[in-house]
Amino acid sequence: MSPPATYSCDMSQKSDYGDTSHRSGWRADRAYNSLPPLPPRVELETKPVLKRCVTARAALGELKQAAAQLPNPAILINTLPLLEAQASSEIEHIVTTADRLFQCLQGEASADPATKEALRYRHALLEGFANLFKRPLCTATAELICSRIKDHPLRVRKTSGTALASAGSGEVIYTPPEGEDRLRGLLANWERFLHGEDDADQFDPLVRMAAAHYQFEAIHPFTDGNGRTGRVLNSLFLVEQGLLPLPILSLSRYVIDHKRDYYDRLLAVTRDEAWEPWILFMLQGVEETASWTTAKITAIRTLAAATVEYVREKTPKLSSRELVDLIFEQPYCRIGNLVEAGIAGRQAASRHLKALAAIGVLREQAVGREKLFVNVRLLQLLTGATNTFAPFPKLGAGGAVGRQRRRRR
Ligand SMILES: Nc1ncnc2c1ncn2[C@@H]1O[C@H](COP(=O)(O)OP(=O)(O)O)[C@@H](O)[C@H]1O
Ligand SMILES: [Mg+2]
Repeated sequence: MSPPATYSCDMSQKSDYGDTSHRSGWRADRAYNSLPPLPPRVELETKPVLKRCVTARAALGELKQAAAQLPNPAILINTLPLLEAQASSEIEHIVTTADRLFQCLQGEASADPATKEALRYRHALLEGFANLFKRPLCTATAELICSRIKDHPLRVRKTSGTALASAGSGEVIYTPPEGEDRLRGLLANWERFLHGEDDADQFDPLVRMAAAHYQFEAIHPFTDGNGRTGRVLNSLFLVEQGLLPLPILSLSRYVIDHKRDYYDRLLAVTRDEAWEPWILFMLQGVEETASWTTAKITAIRTLAAATVEYVREKTPKLSSRELVDLIFEQPYCRIGNLVEAGIAGRQAASRHLKALAAIGVLREQAVGREKLFVNVRLLQLLTGATNTFAPFPKLGAGGAVGRQRRRRR
């Protein structure tokens, strides 16, 4: 038997649910081979759950609408999955900043290991999204996602010895089931439940997502990467169910803000069959995050419109619409991006970006040998807590462009 591989989850304190008597068949330090299949025997859709479902579904509906109103979906797909990647990785103590991630999207070579790992999460999310068009979410999708996150081919565990331990005391908190056949059997049940088979269609998709996320984590099919893979699957599930057009809900933000609850409530399902608090926790997360994202998208739209207007006014010779669309696809832009998009040749592209920098829309920044142009207000919206952005500089006739040029000489 391989030695116990324990993972440092930050669970050093006792759960709020207290050390109640254990369900028959479960002990923290023994493989939980009797993990029940879904659906559980307790009622999932209690009255409070159904109430919460209504408001969470409404918040998701608003987000879907806000996303549809953006003329260029590249803004969403380039930026929001990256914020999710940063947050989900941070839960696992892989710490980088959204700013650094956006920067490294334009050239991964300079990325530190944590940034590379978070970029792999984003890649896994986008590849999983592309995969949805080929087949429904299934065990093979989970294997693909985990392999991408961990950067080597991974299959469902064959070996024993995986356990979750407290970061502080090292005490084992949960030991998942073992045996490849058992794990694959449980995963087959998880797949059917996700897709509403075996009578599971009676449950709201959000309730299915919450229950299935617990179950996936309890099965813990891989030796590592289960938390991140499970959270990618949540994002993809919402798309698969048609609740969102793109994987843009960053539920991991909410998990970071309520990390103790996330761990406590997962454990309480195992120990006390406390399903209701878990489902409510997840529904609240969907609702809060959906509202947060809708507000961000609205702010980005307002900024894009204000930028088009400002650029038109200050640099009327520049064909601004295409250019502004491009500098909103991600906060960092290279000259090469304009060339690749067919907007201009290298020299003209460089001139355009410098003109935007001169009027205070972009900021020029050297990163290694590369020149990057930062859409400062977009970056501020994406990485900051508020949805307001700095006003554009007031430029007089002749503008700051002329003045800045004179000063440089
Ligand atoms: N009591 C628990 N039972 C089942 N899963 C849990 C429990 N507590 C935490 N988890 C899940 O385990 C994840 C950590 O597992 P791990 O395989 O190390 O994933 P990663 O490498 O992505 O962190 C957490 O993010 C969480 O999703
Ligand atoms: Mg881990």
